[in-house]
Amino acid sequence: MKTEFIKIDYEKPLSAQIERAAEIIAAGGLVAFPTETVYGLGGNALDADAAQHIYAAKGRPSDNPLIVHIAKPSDAEKYAFAGELYDKLAKAFMPGPLTVVLPKRDIIPFSVTGGLDSVGIRCPGHPVARELIRKAGVPIAAPSANLSGRPSPTTAAHCVDDLDGRVDCIVDGGESEVGLESTIVKIMGDSLTVLRPGAITPEMLREICPNVSIDGGVFDKLPEGTAPLAPGMKYRHYAPRAKVYLIKDAGGEDFDRRVTEFLKEKLAEDPETGVLCFDEYAESLTGKNVLTFGKKDDEKAHSHLLFDRLRHFDETDATVIYATAGSTEGIGLALYNRMLKAAGYTVLNI
Ligand code: TXA
Ligand code: MG
Repeated sequence: MKTEFIKIDYEKPLSAQIERAAEIIAAGGLVAFPTETVYGLGGNALDADAAQHIYAAKGRPSDNPLIVHIAKPSDAEKYAFAGELYDKLAKAFMPGPLTVVLPKRDIIPFSVTGGLDSVGIRCPGHPVARELIRKAGVPIAAPSANLSGRPSPTTAAHCVDDLDGRVDCIVDGGESEVGLESTIVKIMGDSLTVLRPGAITPEMLREICPNVSIDGGVFDKLPEGTAPLAPGMKYRHYAPRAKVYLIKDAGGEDFDRRVTEFLKEKLAEDPETGVLCFDEYAESLTGKNVLTFGKKDDEKAHSHLLFDRLRHFDETDATVIYATAGSTEGIGLALYNRMLKAAGYTVLNI
């Protein structure tokens, strides 16, 4: 298949630039497109065949449900049974990086929801995504636009690496601002469960709904045989080819000094060692596979850059990567969750 490319020029009106991509979606084809979280691989969410094509293009197991993207928050009611708490969440956080799992209506095919009776609904904030959904005239089912198991794409170049020749079109709308996938919450009566943390943090959700719990799969590996509430959370994810170790503070004084000493030792043993660390640590380290992802207190930068850096390691000879983790407050929880998965849950307390 020959993949068409569309590069968005934000100086010009979006509508005409998006027209071709919208036509492709409406005709049952697949388009990789930018959102504020990560790039999505979109198809018509009302078309069971399009969903099958998405699974095939990604090499993804078809029991892993797709998120349905809508043009405006009130459209949720067309595809799902929304309700009062949804309305409150929509008012506070939509359009934006939040997915809400709701009981589905019959119009959404089971192939989109991986056989579940529920559907994840998201109204993205990115202008290109919204214009694409509006113009296509149908909701868009879209997982992240990576090959299954690879880090989610945050640029069109990442989509090209994974999907060139496998999809009809790739729309280049620049870098995804957030860099981590949306927060997923499931509404259960008058309480919320966070299935996947993201830029809409538990602290922010608690302002709207006092009963917010966090699914066990977010912090820890689920015991063998347990089914997570979000089926996708059970798959190996975000993983570069090298073995990743996540470095955490075991407590006590002077963590910064302990980390840099540890990393220096590892680099002395093997100069190819991969390191992903805060800018401040890198100042005293030398090694060709030492990558940084922002200053220690700049969690937005860490989130924005994490997946790009993980992908970059695949182009190096590093067989082991040591990555430094920050706090689990705010968006730090989402970052920690993705790093933990990249590390296959191996944490070094030093
Ligand atoms: O930010 C995002 O959410 C991106 C962009 C493209 O919107 N999409 C994304 O999709 O990350 P994906 O398919 O890579 O991840 C969707 C996650 C999976 O873990 C899946 O199991 C979960 O959402 N999910 C979807 N529908 C669900 C449902 N009905 N119940 C529980 N979990 C669901
Ligand atoms: Mg994904």
